Amino acid sequence: MGERAVLFVDDELNILRALQRLLRSEPIAVHVATRPEEALEVLRTRPVQVVVSDQRMPGTSGVDLLSAVRERHPDVVRLLLTGFTEMTIAVDAINRGQIYRLLTKPWNDDELRATLRQAFDHYELKRENQRLHALTREQNSELQDLNRNLEGIVRDRTKQLAEANQELRNAYVQTIRALAEAVDAKDSYTRGHSERVGVYASKIARELEFPKPLIERVYIAGLLHDVGKIGVRDAVITKPDRLTLAEYEEIRLHPEIGARILEPVRFLADVVPCVRHHHEWYDGSASGYPDRLRGDAIPIASRVILVADTVEAMTSDRPYRRRLPLENVVREIHAFAGTQFDPDCAAACLRLLEREGESFLRRDQKFDIYAFIEG
Ligand SMILES: [Fe+2]
Ligand SMILES: [Fe+2]
Repeated sequence: MGERAVLFVDDELNILRALQRLLRSEPIAVHVATRPEEALEVLRTRPVQVVVSDQRMPGTSGVDLLSAVRERHPDVVRLLLTGFTEMTIAVDAINRGQIYRLLTKPWNDDELRATLRQAFDHYELKRENQRLHALTREQNSELQDLNRNLEGIVRDRTKQLAEANQELRNAYVQTIRALAEAVDAKDSYTRGHSERVGVYASKIARELEFPKPLIERVYIAGLLHDVGKIGVRDAVITKPDRLTLAEYEEIRLHPEIGARILEPVRFLADVVPCVRHHHEWYDGSASGYPDRLRGDAIPIASRVILVADTVEAMTSDRPYRRRLPLENVVREIHAFAGTQFDPDCAAACLRLLEREGESFLRRDQKFDIYAFIEG
């Protein structure tokens, strides 16, 4: 708070002098005025917190002067100095909110000093209150701004994150494709096999109205289903003749080898079991491997991949035969639905083949899994 200052207004100079004397030892600056215009001039030019005006003055009354003060300087605390005879006017002025307190003539020095102190306290309290209110308003609006900004920042960051995530996924799908191609390249007859199994499997997955993350998993597991063939000797994989039992056993290891290869890759954790079980039979029979799982115990992605794998293998040339016509594929899937194949997956595949015919098998189609999922 700045320095305390009071203005006394009275047409009698000796009263003003007495009031000045009264406050000589107080840390209060004292201004005096003998006429109302003079008083208003002081208030206009000096920092004054409290005005004490005599009621009876020539021209303007004290109440009128204090009304004018209230209008021009609403914060200034107004006190009226009055004789007993003017008490009614004074009480009325208090009631109308024109003055803060009444001081009576003749006054008691201590009482007057105490009242003045209260007036200053009142002023300071009011100012502090206003300051706090303003501060609260300011902070509220700052908070609102901050909130608005935060929402924007969160929105931007989320978008950036989603984009970065998508880029990362695209990059990792590229890496997985490269890996799958490397596997397929071990045998000229299986070039593109993994990609096509991934594509067919994801089409079946969408036909089955799987949620997007599952369609993505089916595609990636499809790409990687035979990755374990890396661990099988080339001589066995490319052998054009019938396999011996031992060679057949070696081939049958590829789902387990694949799962072991992928196990350390954390972001492929949910793909690993899909790879491991892509040769299980739906009926749990001994023809399935490696674990002879049955029905729902086989990951759904594996069940889809087995159908897609069969379609791809039958419609590709092999060293010992040309590609088979679509009717054969349809017949095969029909025949093994419920034993080798999950009947729902088989039915979905048959619907697709019926609807799309040869175009379901279109080779070398550039496949964008994310456009596919969104589309
Ligand atoms: Fe396989
Ligand atoms: Fe395969």
